[in-house]
Amino acid sequence: MPLLVQPALARGSLASAPQPTLEVPDRRLVLRPWRSSDAEAVREAYQDPAIQRWHVRRGDSVAEVREWIDAWRATWAEESAGHWAIAAPDAEGGTVRGRMALKRLDLYDGVAEVAYWVSPAARGTGTCRAALEALTRWAFGTAGFHRLDLEHSTANPASCRVAVASGYVLEGTRRAAALHADGRHDMHLHARLAEHTRITEEA
Ligand SMILES: CC(C)(COP(=O)(O)OP(=O)(O)OC[C@H]1O[C@@H](n2cnc3c(N)ncnc32)[C@H](O)[C@@H]1OP(=O)(O)O)[C@@H](O)C(=O)NCCC(=O)NCCS
Repeated sequence: MPLLVQPALARGSLASAPQPTLEVPDRRLVLRPWRSSDAEAVREAYQDPAIQRWHVRRGDSVAEVREWIDAWRATWAEESAGHWAIAAPDAEGGTVRGRMALKRLDLYDGVAEVAYWVSPAARGTGTCRAALEALTRWAFGTAGFHRLDLEHSTANPASCRVAVASGYVLEGTRRAAALHADGRHDMHLHARLAEHTRITEEA
């Protein structure tokens, strides 16, 4: 049946080019595609109780984490998600500081969902907000998305703070929407719209 509207993003508009590395302005950080060699850093991050709690996973071995990384990398070609490491530039050692992702890519509506964690040692200095701003600007600018969702448990005030401070407006609470290790959690739904974001530079 013919579509009556033009999809927001054409199929192939992301996967026709390699997954980009994004600069994080005013920080010595980049968002870059994950590498197999990041597996130990990811395994280590997933020892953190807060990452386990909010991402509902453990990483028990480097081999197992390498499989996740392979799966994260494969999502770009499928245009189902984009997964980036928040890392120091290679010239400064390339150390992983965290993760940024665009999940649930809906090219037709131009909607995706952001997700993140920051390694314990890198927290509390604005790393997450700066990295989220870089991803948001690329998603609205170069990629052409219209709306980005951000969900977190109502029991996770740090994530709520990041969302609000990053211009992701609280739209409501999805009751009992997500299963965690201690049961179902109410989830705040935040979102940011492209039309509320002035893109002043090409990402
Ligand atoms: C949430 C998380 C990504 C934030 O990373 P970060 O780099 O420390 O974030 P930022 O420094 O940019 O900002 C953190 C904000 O949360 C605030 N914050 C931190 N802990 C908090 C708490 N327990 N209660 C309320 N606010 C808190 C900080 O004060 C800061 O806000 P401010 O700059 O207005 O003072 C990080 O704590 C994390 O990885 N947590 C575990 C995994 C997780 O929660 N992932 C998100 C799942 S939705």
